[in-house]
Amino acid sequence: MADTCHLFLLGLAILSSLLAGTSGVDDAHVFITSGENVCLPCNNTLHDCTSTTWIYNKDSTAVELIDGGKKKKDTERHERLNLGSDCSLNINNISTEDYGFYTCRQWTGVNRDKHQEPDARVYLHVLHVSQTEISAGLSVTLFCQLYSYDGVSCDDSVSSERIQLFWVNQAGVKLTILESKCKALSSSGHCICTLTIILLNEDHNREWRCEVTQRDQVKTSVTYTVKSSAPGSTLIPVSSSNSETTSSRTTAAAPTKGS
Ligand SMILES: *[C@@H]1O[C@H](CO)[C@@H](O)[C@H](O)[C@H]1NC(C)=O
Ligand SMILES: *[C@@H]1O[C@H](CO)[C@@H](O)[C@H](O)[C@H]1NC(C)=O
Repeated sequence: MADTCHLFLLGLAILSSLLAGTSGVDDAHVFITSGENVCLPCNNTLHDCTSTTWIYNKDSTAVELIDGGKKKKDTERHERLNLGSDCSLNINNISTEDYGFYTCRQWTGVNRDKHQEPDARVYLHVLHVSQTEISAGLSVTLFCQLYSYDGVSCDDSVSSERIQLFWVNQAGVKLTILESKCKALSSSGHCICTLTIILLNEDHNREWRCEVTQRDQVKTSVTYTVKSSAPGSTLIPVSSSNSETTSSRTTAAAPTKGS
């Protein structure tokens, strides 16, 4: 856990220096696949975590998760949370409900009434893939969805973050619009990319990957592969990978391939 966070902090340091050079925006963006564990850095200057507050914002509501360095017991997610020794917030088994932005605030002064500037703000984006039943023994549809605070549009190419979501084949080539379509869901604004696959025996071990990129760098991805076996083929998730952490998902029938 601690190692993961260190790796992550290294990535973040590079990221924030890039940010400082381009836009001057300090907010960090963290991308994670559902089911994994994540570490959100506080990046504040106080080492005494008993003055640390973590606040979670989503859908214009704010919830205190950590107060005075202690977990608030009344949040439904408290069992999956813990505070790292560097005041980072660790969240286990990320779900699609966890997206949003997280603020780490620290307090100083005798009465802990002075607010240490600046707050560390971290946007958490959650990638999640679901699939339909295999119909007629052949056809299956995969839905790759990115859960983001602002409902990042499917092609965010004009904003400074340039967050994009798409399916690629095993050669890493982006699928054409005939194969995969992305659209923002009108209900939530979350981007969803749909891919329908016809499972053929000759496609054994063929792979498809849903990727999220930020400024053309892959941030997290989920890979699916076809396994042929009598009486028919199945499609299973083989791995997911994050550029900023070393964690990877282990799935029941998942012989993880070299990633
Ligand atoms: C982290 O802290 C450093 C130094 O205080 C600051 O320059 C940087 O912008 C911060 N990064 C984030 C993501 O908050
Ligand atoms: C992770 O959360 C999902 C629901 O979001 C649950 O079904 C699963 O059992 C959890 N896994 C672990 C290891 O706790």
